[in-house]
Amino acid sequence: MNFKSLLLSLCTAAIVVAQSSNYGGDDHTYIAPGPNDLRGPCPGLNTLANHGYLPRDGRNINVTTILDAGFNGYHMQPGVLELAAKVSLLTSDDPFTFTLDNIKLHGNIEHDASISRVDFALGDNARFNETIFTTLAESNPGDDHYNTTSAGQVQFLRLADSQAKNPNVTNTDKEFFIRSVESAFYLSVMGNPLTGVAPKEFVNIFFREERLPIAEGWKRSETPINGSTIGPMYRKIQAASNWTAGEGCHWVRLGSDDPIVDF
Ligand code: HEM
Ligand SMILES: *[C@@H]1O[C@H](CO)[C@@H](O)[C@H](O)[C@H]1NC(C)=O
Ligand SMILES: *[C@@H]1O[C@H](CO)[C@@H](O)[C@H](O)[C@H]1NC(C)=O
Ligand SMILES: *[C@@H]1O[C@H](CO)[C@@H](O)[C@H](O)[C@H]1NC(C)=O
Ligand SMILES: *[C@@H]1O[C@H](CO)[C@@H](O)[C@H](O)[C@H]1NC(C)=O
Ligand SMILES: *[C@@H]1O[C@H](CO)[C@@H](O)[C@H](O)[C@H]1NC(C)=O
Ligand SMILES: *[C@@H]1O[C@H](CO)[C@@H](O)[C@H](O)[C@H]1NC(C)=O
Repeated sequence: MNFKSLLLSLCTAAIVVAQSSNYGGDDHTYIAPGPNDLRGPCPGLNTLANHGYLPRDGRNINVTTILDAGFNGYHMQPGVLELAAKVSLLTSDDPFTFTLDNIKLHGNIEHDASISRVDFALGDNARFNETIFTTLAESNPGDDHYNTTSAGQVQFLRLADSQAKNPNVTNTDKEFFIRSVESAFYLSVMGNPLTGVAPKEFVNIFFREERLPIAEGWKRSETPINGSTIGPMYRKIQAASNWTAGEGCHWVRLGSDDPIVDF
């Protein structure tokens, strides 16, 4: 076991280094990744790379690259991406950069009971899987939109499926927090960041094609997506998800306002 996997397997804290600079110069049309381009478990970042807001090869990504891309592509303010960007540095061997593939490291951000990927112990935890995505695709029947209620129900069903099939399932408050924020992210970037209502068509294209549905009428949110919008939204999703904690420890305090156990 090397030092990094030891670090990730313990209930310990991590110190990471932030950096600053810029990335740009692209017309942001959609281009599917080529054979040498890296992609990973995050549909949000894969989409930004497919549109050139992140390096199209999926490599050499630093904290600033992420913050700029999230702002330019989705109107997300730095505060809602900083934590994920910093934690992701732990997934690579380079101290200052990571690739979109690196971040599939199980137990860093990557978790079980994902809404579009298979659990690490059961298969490919990085690639989109239509079978897994069926739960989300079939949610909120009779409505053309997903919302915080349906997102919570999807999380409940996906966790139940993992608990039934994966003896290695990890379900602590850390995973619950991350999963709920990710749900708030897809509702916000593909829908209305204030109401959490997102057109199914846009969300489905985002996950299945990792493409911005501009041709279908999607626009970058005029409302900035920040802690004031994401906070209340992920709590509504949590309330609708009927969650109960499993075993395991919250290995790192996920930021200065992370209450760790008391949500
Ligand atoms: C830029 C805006 C972002 C959006 C819209 C977004 C959206 C999402 C969504 C919806 C998922 C859930 C996928 C699933 O459960 O199948 C996800 C997963 C993930 N995201 Fe992001 N994300 C964003 C930023 C980030 C950042 C900044 C990082 C780290 C640098 C990150 C890393 C991950 C990872 C590692 C996963 C996999 C978690 C898992 O399912 O196990 N994301 N993201
Ligand atoms: C972050 O990455 C960008 C794009 O590759 C680069 O221009 C910048 O110098 C990097 N910043 C740091 C602090 O390494
Ligand atoms: C699942 O857990 C068992 C028991 O802890 C362990 O031996 C095995 O390596 C784990 N498998 C995976 C894929 O994590
Ligand atoms: C997708 O997930 C299903 C259900 O877990 C699994 O049977 C199937 O092998 C996965 N497909 C791929 C391509 O990994
Ligand atoms: C989500 O949509 C369903 C179906 O239209 C509706 O019953 C539910 O109240 C909605 N949830 C929210 C939070 O608006
Ligand atoms: C989020 O953006 C809104 C609108 O610009 C602003 O009023 C609010 O203070 C911001 N919240 C945070 C946490 O930055
Ligand atoms: C909530 O979870 C509990 C325990 O897992 C279960 O018994 C109950 O049926 C669930 N309720 C809903 C509405 O899903």
